[in-house]
Amino acid sequence: MENLFQHILDRITELNPMHGKKLKKSVKSLGPDYFNKAEEFYQKYNRILFSSGKTIEFGIDCYLHMCNDMMFEQLRFMETGKYSNTSFDEVNKNVYDNPAVMEYHMNGLLMSEMLWHHHYKVYSFFKENFNHHLPSIARYLEIGGGHGLFTQEAVNDLPNAIIDVVDISKSSIELSKQFVSGGSVNYYLKDVYEYNPEVKYDFIVMGEVLEHVEDPVALLKKLHSLLNENGKAFITTPTNAPTIDHVYLFRNRKDVVDIIEKAGFEVYVESCIYAEDLPPETAEEMKITMMYAAFLKKK
Ligand SMILES: C[S@@+](CC[C@H](N)C(=O)[O-])C[C@H]1O[C@@H](n2cnc3c(N)ncnc32)[C@H](O)[C@@H]1O
Repeated sequence: MENLFQHILDRITELNPMHGKKLKKSVKSLGPDYFNKAEEFYQKYNRILFSSGKTIEFGIDCYLHMCNDMMFEQLRFMETGKYSNTSFDEVNKNVYDNPAVMEYHMNGLLMSEMLWHHHYKVYSFFKENFNHHLPSIARYLEIGGGHGLFTQEAVNDLPNAIIDVVDISKSSIELSKQFVSGGSVNYYLKDVYEYNPEVKYDFIVMGEVLEHVEDPVALLKKLHSLLNENGKAFITTPTNAPTIDHVYLFRNRKDVVDIIEKAGFEVYVESCIYAEDLPPETAEEMKITMMYAAFLKKK
């Protein structure tokens, strides 16, 4: 299929007109470079699906299934002001350790990486800044790599480094093994709290994991213990983002930065991107999801 990205947008619009129109409007301003990257990304994903007997229709179904879950979680959140999950164990049992849920959820999340302007902007922010760190990285770790989008960047940019990924979900690791091409990655199927390697890392990426645990300070302290003294980390986490696997509610940037500092880190570059095109004060007041992304160093 020649213009796969356009086909995906059209098919989503056919199946869910309101959502499809919103997506088309939100990506319009991202420019030609974005459209080329999105096309390349979905062509690659389509080839992976094809090799396991599936088509892009499967990816679209997973995406809409994930969005449907999110809509229910959003309604509950609007009613209660809380996320519906209260414990990590609950999410581990119902999501990470449940292949049927994890398959559509992680494929849906992968699809969203180029469909949601805030996901694409976080990915671009990472790429731009990660480049400056490359010469100092001999050992790279990713915690909760999920589908493998960031792992692929490490494999592309760090051909001589050791690249390790620790993830608690077998389904995530399987998807990442399919998605990441070239280079070699060591995967560890473990809860990060039980991951105790003998050597430390120069760079650690932890995208969208902080909101999955009950105690994000403890998780960041664990990351701190895995990092070299001069090592750097890249973390992302959303605020006001109810989903089937989120436990800890960050309400705004300050909530996130406070826990980063409590864990012994300092933010040296950051980015805050709201999911809706609104002035930041209005977006925060309306509890619109915001993606927080930051590069950290030890204090
Ligand atoms: C939302 S996905 C994030 C995927 C990707 N990093 C991103 O930024 O889009 C969260 C991932 O973290 C993993 N995860 C959650 N808690 C974990 C833990 N305690 N230890 C290791 N992995 C964990 C999940 O299995 C899942 O693959």
